[in-house]
Amino acid sequence: MENKVIKAAMLGLGTVGTGVYKVLKLQKEEMEAKIGARVELKKILVRNLQKAAQKVDDPSVLTNDVQEILDDPEIEIVIEVMGGIQPALSYMLEALNAGKSVVTANKDVVASEGKKLLEAAKANGRDFLYEASVAGGIPIVRPMKQCLAGNHITEVVGIFNGTTNFILTKMSKEGMEFEEALQLAQDLGYAESDPTSDIEGLDAGRKVAILASAAFNSRVVFENVYTEGIARITAKDIQYAKEMGCEIKLLGMARLTAEGIEARVHPMLINKDHPLASVQDSYNAVFVRGDAVQDTMFYGRGAGELPTASAVVGDVFDCVRNILADCCGRIGCTCYKDLPIRKISQIKSKYFVRMEVEDRPGVLASVTAVFGNNSVSIAQFIQKEKKGELAEIVVITEKVQERHFMDAIRILEGMSIIREISSLIRVYG
Ligand code: NAP
Ligand code: HSE
Repeated sequence: MENKVIKAAMLGLGTVGTGVYKVLKLQKEEMEAKIGARVELKKILVRNLQKAAQKVDDPSVLTNDVQEILDDPEIEIVIEVMGGIQPALSYMLEALNAGKSVVTANKDVVASEGKKLLEAAKANGRDFLYEASVAGGIPIVRPMKQCLAGNHITEVVGIFNGTTNFILTKMSKEGMEFEEALQLAQDLGYAESDPTSDIEGLDAGRKVAILASAAFNSRVVFENVYTEGIARITAKDIQYAKEMGCEIKLLGMARLTAEGIEARVHPMLINKDHPLASVQDSYNAVFVRGDAVQDTMFYGRGAGELPTASAVVGDVFDCVRNILADCCGRIGCTCYKDLPIRKISQIKSKYFVRMEVEDRPGVLASVTAVFGNNSVSIAQFIQKEKKGELAEIVVITEKVQERHFMDAIRILEGMSIIREISSLIRVYG
């Protein structure tokens, strides 16, 4: 058999790039038998040649001139693992326009500029694949576009961020407060030194945008996703949620309704019986509901050197197979609809509300009247601990349109009998 070699180049050699380098090396012996060719990393773009030289067997593959990659006709696949919007976006567009297939792990770019990249791939008859951009090592983009293509997907809900799931697990299992759990996540290397994008739900929001587009065949960009983080969740909220048979998770959710697509990331109480409630530590999971498959769940490592590289290398192997079969660009953009996207104010949710009120006759009646006057129906009303003149109460509402619920909250906030509205958390269902 003729030894077939497909030349590739990589942009970036950080956590994921190093993982890709290692996985390609681990696959070296059987790659040809598996996919019909050996992938050779001809060039790797880095900023600091000296630092990168310690990570590779042959430092002559390193370059800090991207044109050595983009202008090289021998390079058929470009693997972008440098991150950020620019210059990653321009480099990927140039690579596609130069007739190369592109694989990326870059959720920031795909969530905002995916359409542009998929159109460039189509125009040039090449592949643009991005499995690693959602939930790291968990196969989900390709299953959504291929294995589940025979479904009308109605809901995708998941734990898309390992850092926040680790923090919430520590708060739930060990009673830690948010700040302490965040510090632990940073000490253990889960959370970055600037954890804003994880904590505020932005990282998960990008993944929801990418997956919603694939699930509902209609473009959803990051800017369409409502995001709210976990910084205001307390150990007490989690304890009360547990007493009600729930966990609190940062869920990313995309739903198809008769009025359009809902795409959002925020903390939610979720019943302990739901499989997502038992996803612990830094693991991710994605729960998908389709009309034919019914319920299905994907679970695993959403980040990290080798798990993310697993997804990137899977995409690279797909590109190789397509190049060998002369059928690149077989599955490109699947957004053939243009569905409206619902605003958070239009969405209906159940709510968990924790508040401190004056402990005297008539107060509870006043609170329920405000809810009732604003079309908010109460499912449960529980009085928790008393602190001197104050009582802590928890209200669980029935499903209510966000706009009406927030009207009620604004009125409650202005009432002297309400000392504090401590928590407002949506309930999954
Ligand atoms: P990282 O560790 O910061 O690595 C980025 C690499 O790209 C570094 O080698 C950096 O070089 C290089 N780089 C950045 N800008 C460059 C430029 N303009 N020219 C040349 N080289 C440049 O990042 P990462 O964690 O591997 O993440 C890479 C991508 O994968 C991101 O899009 C991220 O969102 C995505 N991702 C990451 C994970 C994960 O677990 N880490 C999981 C899923 C997806 P220097 O070191 O010299 O700065
Ligand atoms: N920072 C992300 C997480 C991984 O904590 O899950 C990269 O998307």
